[in-house]
Amino acid sequence: MEASIQAVRARAIEECSQVENLEELQQLRVKFLGKKGEVTQLLRGLGGIPAEQRPVVGQMVNNLKSELEQLYDEKQAQLERLIQQKRLQEETLDITLPGRMPRSGALHPLTLVLNEIKQIFIAMGYKVVEGPEIETDYYNFEALNIPKDHPARDMQDTFYITEDFLLRSQTSPVQIHVMERQEPPVRIIAPGKVYRADSDLTHSPMFHQVEGLLVDEGITFADLKGTLQAFAEAMFGPETRTRFRPSYFPFTEPSAEVDVSCIICRGRGCRVCSNTGWLEILGSGMVDPRVLAKVGYDVDKVSGFAFGMGIERIAMLKYGINDIRLFYINDHRFLNQFR
Ligand code: PHE
Repeated sequence: MEASIQAVRARAIEECSQVENLEELQQLRVKFLGKKGEVTQLLRGLGGIPAEQRPVVGQMVNNLKSELEQLYDEKQAQLERLIQQKRLQEETLDITLPGRMPRSGALHPLTLVLNEIKQIFIAMGYKVVEGPEIETDYYNFEALNIPKDHPARDMQDTFYITEDFLLRSQTSPVQIHVMERQEPPVRIIAPGKVYRADSDLTHSPMFHQVEGLLVDEGITFADLKGTLQAFAEAMFGPETRTRFRPSYFPFTEPSAEVDVSCIICRGRGCRVCSNTGWLEILGSGMVDPRVLAKVGYDVDKVSGFAFGMGIERIAMLKYGINDIRLFYINDHRFLNQFR
């Protein structure tokens, strides 16, 4: 009996040293320590030996059993360490490679300028509204007192979709939408895209305008002047002066184009203002009573003023940009200068 215990032990240890992976080790456990394993068989065989030897031999088999359990556990731990090491080696990262810096975005210069314009008018009690970019002839022209034979309707200026539908050539139609929806008092600005068949260094087929409209009882040209003077000072600095030049828009009467003292040379004369000292920044006027009457307002009670400005133009003046296309081609070298 003793001899066979030694023989099993020798084989169990020898075979363990040959084991190369966890599956083989598991097979070995079954072979020696399993229910039908060789050590288990030895324990069963104890019944066949003399009773007085049984405790001693039994002890030997039990010792073998725990010795092998310990041996296999150690082997298992060793195998697991090897597997782990191998995996770590395979997954090695070269952390000495220089990283790629994430590029963070920034607000577009047109957004920056529009935000400023919005803030100034919101502080004066205006609400920001939007209107559709696809308009009917009625809203873009007819309701704004622009007759059928007006040159602004020319196919060369306006993008027509059909005879009745077009891409709005100005934000002024939003005035009509707002007045159709609500009774006076009205106090809104309406920013958005507008479209004209025009393209050179300072004109783009798509550009942005901000419309302004105020209608209430007793509004006069003095209110228009005061409002736009306050806007110019807030936008371009407190020393900014304004100049109102008589002009013509079909839907305002009287109409005025508004200049600000040159923001580059402060009025002394430079290349940007063509040595005039002034920069034109917007069109404006008192809303023609015919426009108010068309939306059902009582022209004996209310009057109003409107104005419209190009955001690109203001951004170009403010940042000294000389090519309007820079706003649309998304060149990082350009955009990064506005953070
Ligand atoms: N819509 C005019 C334009 O695009 C600007 C304007 C708006 C003029 C409001 C007067 C009043 O030229």
